[in-house]
Amino acid sequence: MTSKQLADAVNKRRTFAIISHPDAGKTTITEQMLLFGGIVREAGTVKGRGSSNFAKSDWMEIEKKRGISVTSSVMQFDFEGKRINILDTPGHEDFSEDTYRTLMAVDSAVMVIDGAKGIEPQTRKLFKICKMRGIPIFTFINKFDRDARDPLDLMNEIEETLGIETYPMDWPIGMGRQFMGVYDRYNHRVALTHPKDKDNPYLPLDDDGKVKDENPLADEGEWKDAMDGMELIEMAGNQFSEDKVLKGDQTPVFFGSALTNFGVRTFLTTYLKFAPAPSSHKLENGDEVEPLDPEFSGFVFKIQANMNPRHRDRIAFVRVCSGEFDKGMDVTLERTGKPLRLSNVTEFMANTRENVNKAVAGDIIGLYDTGNFQIGDSIYTGKKDIKFEKLPQFTPELFVRVTAKNVMKQKSFHKGINQLVQEGAVQLFHGYNSNDYILGAVGQLQFEVFKFRMENEYNSQVEMEPMGSKQARWIDPDQLDPKMASSRNILVKDIHGDPLFLFENEFALNWFKQKYPDVKLTAKL
Ligand code: G4P
Repeated sequence: MTSKQLADAVNKRRTFAIISHPDAGKTTITEQMLLFGGIVREAGTVKGRGSSNFAKSDWMEIEKKRGISVTSSVMQFDFEGKRINILDTPGHEDFSEDTYRTLMAVDSAVMVIDGAKGIEPQTRKLFKICKMRGIPIFTFINKFDRDARDPLDLMNEIEETLGIETYPMDWPIGMGRQFMGVYDRYNHRVALTHPKDKDNPYLPLDDDGKVKDENPLADEGEWKDAMDGMELIEMAGNQFSEDKVLKGDQTPVFFGSALTNFGVRTFLTTYLKFAPAPSSHKLENGDEVEPLDPEFSGFVFKIQANMNPRHRDRIAFVRVCSGEFDKGMDVTLERTGKPLRLSNVTEFMANTRENVNKAVAGDIIGLYDTGNFQIGDSIYTGKKDIKFEKLPQFTPELFVRVTAKNVMKQKSFHKGINQLVQEGAVQLFHGYNSNDYILGAVGQLQFEVFKFRMENEYNSQVEMEPMGSKQARWIDPDQLDPKMASSRNILVKDIHGDPLFLFENEFALNWFKQKYPDVKLTAKL
């Protein structure tokens, strides 16, 4: 590729993830987008619908599910001159630290909210990471074909609970059975859910924002309510600021109904106008790598283990940060300084086959891995040593005590734990004054994968005693008095030896804060 070709290819890329709580409509929206991109012909093909009666202990089922999720982990398609990469952020039983880490590999995020439920816990958690990265976040409020909450209320909730300004790009006219459309202030038109002329669902607006021609909704109460809401927003709402949007300080908000395919196309088109192309990535030494640098570089943000014991290979997901990837190319693995040939690449869902052989900054490649990679690894070509900034550590929420079933097999137990921890599969803690092994995770699946892999890859049967969910808070070692610990706040240390308390619940945490007001407690992300 010439430098001009590389620049054209990179500037076309738009790489994002959808952040939402389960059931808000992420899959339905993704499917609509894939339909626009010509990648699927029918909705309902991404997630095996109806197969949700998934038994946690049934590995065949997980295998099947994971088989699907590898191809749909990254979905690539072309739309309106852009090449879009949607990175899946698994929720439900698949929620894990990988879901968080995926957000380190995107350039923007789409937040999908259920109009009846508002902000839900998983959205809040994922949002926090996007905010920390300062990436643009675009909001789609879904399910307006059902009864939803007052849109003004929803705006308030986003601003208050997430701490981001909102800018409604459109405003709903009615909801539920009376959902008539949206007043699209950005595109200067009214979009109708049930237009008389199906080929022309829009009513253009004049310079004053009034419907130019005859307005079939003029006498409807829903129209009047929407206009009142719009007036309030115009008067008291935020000014649109592209600068703030790009910094992640303001979120453009859209309303619609993914199920009836209302509003998704407008959302995608408008999103593409503002969403940024791949930008530079920080290195550990403070330098930055520019996407148009002709040398290839990237980092591993997720490793997916194959649950089939006969195929132990894993897939390392790499975000390309600069240059161009060619199948079969030789790179340096920064951690070891050793050369590696990248010949075995996995296919993602795409409407062209070229993505497997060629990828540029902004794209994701999946490398078959026999144990070379760890999460956070940097790979690159060229002479300059490239080490990307460390991926953040996330605060685990679920904990188990783990022991080897067979005390004679301590060696394989320790080897397995150490490798899986290094790989980022789970986090390891020790009792502060004991040798207890405590594992932490953000999702239950991480423990199950851990157990399965210990047995199958390290021949080590493990016993796991659930400790339940805890609030983990690190404490400055200088302020620590081991007497502060109790059964409600268990004192442990992380793999660096830093002390932290595992609080039973919010109540125990607050009680501690009141008792020791001068003690500083910190959470990771
Ligand atoms: P998720 O990936 O965020 O978990 O959500 P998903 O798209 O699977 O949607 C969750 C449920 O909400 C699905 O119903 C889906 O059909 C429905 N849904 C999504 N968007 C809308 C919308 O705009 N309006 C309405 N009314 N419903 C919507 P389900 O019954 O759980 O699944 P299915 O059996 O219908 O597939």
